[in-house]
Amino acid sequence: MRSLMRQAFQISCCCLIKIALQTFNLFYRLNYYYIAYRSAARRLFSASHTTVDLKEVKKFQLLAHKWWDEQGEYAPLHSMNDIRVPFVRDTLLNLSSDHQLGSPLSGIKILDVGCGGGLLSEPLGRLGASVTGIDPLEDNIRTAEQHKSFDPDLDKRIQYKSCSLEEIAEESTETFDVIVASEVVEHVADLETFISCCYQVLKPEGSLFITTLSKTQLSYVLGIVVAEKIMGIVPDGTHNWEKFITPEELERLLESNGFLVKAVNGMLYNPFSGSWSWIESTSINYALHAMKSKAQEQSSSREPPSEAEEEQHPARANTSTTV
Ligand SMILES: C[S@@+](CC[C@H](N)C(=O)[O-])C[C@H]1O[C@@H](n2cnc3c(N)ncnc32)[C@H](O)[C@@H]1O
Repeated sequence: MRSLMRQAFQISCCCLIKIALQTFNLFYRLNYYYIAYRSAARRLFSASHTTVDLKEVKKFQLLAHKWWDEQGEYAPLHSMNDIRVPFVRDTLLNLSSDHQLGSPLSGIKILDVGCGGGLLSEPLGRLGASVTGIDPLEDNIRTAEQHKSFDPDLDKRIQYKSCSLEEIAEESTETFDVIVASEVVEHVADLETFISCCYQVLKPEGSLFITTLSKTQLSYVLGIVVAEKIMGIVPDGTHNWEKFITPEELERLLESNGFLVKAVNGMLYNPFSGSWSWIESTSINYALHAMKSKAQEQSSSREPPSEAEEEQHPARANTSTTV
């Protein structure tokens, strides 16, 4: 009888150990799958929040060595400097009374997002600014580095880095006085993340300058059909109309992300003279200036410029009143 009871006890102990081991195994597996799921979800989540659209960036790969060919595919960006550089310079000069003759932007830290070959970084550096140019495409950065090395003064003032805006935002907060993103937002993957990263890396009351194409029928006809397909001013396929944005929509996005939009100016490219001019209409190309607002100002609307400001600042005199 006793040996029977001992056997029954041993069997039940074995069963209990087996059940415990199976339960442990089950929990172990569940935990493994849970961790694997979490890391995959995290990867997917961060990938969906990158601002870099690889398909868009690839468009610039083949021409990465042609940035400084003034007669080549980037000719319109070279001539855009004639109006965008004074726009940035004069707006910044109007915001501060303290500037050095000959080096008016000295002491100002500028982040040039999507700098390409450095066509805008260089003139801003020549005006005395300390410029960080970033671009996701390494070949663009190589071209930009090589070109700035021809001018020893620029070498000190400009640094280039191949990375995304969100990588800069991960490592720095409230670092730059100014951000320029010229002809870039129409190529990014997630514009809201792009703008919130700009907000993060800008110092309080810092300035953001954007130039881009509006989303209208006219911009489709002139910016894509005429410029790309008929006249070949820029390579076919450079632009995707779906990614264009109207100034009104961009203003809304900026203002809901803590910016105050100060100016929106229409721009027009004349393909025959190869030059740009300011125009009233913002239905094709436009340049926008916004400032990072103090927290309590976030939802207020754009301030109309004073008469004195308009006199001092010819670009702002063209400010559209479309909103
Ligand atoms: C039309 S080019 C403008 C280059 C330069 N800003 C200029 O005006 O001379 C657009 C540039 O944006 C870069 N780009 C594309 N997507 C980007 C992104 N998500 N973030 C930063 N730059 C990007 C491209 O690699 C390319 O160099």
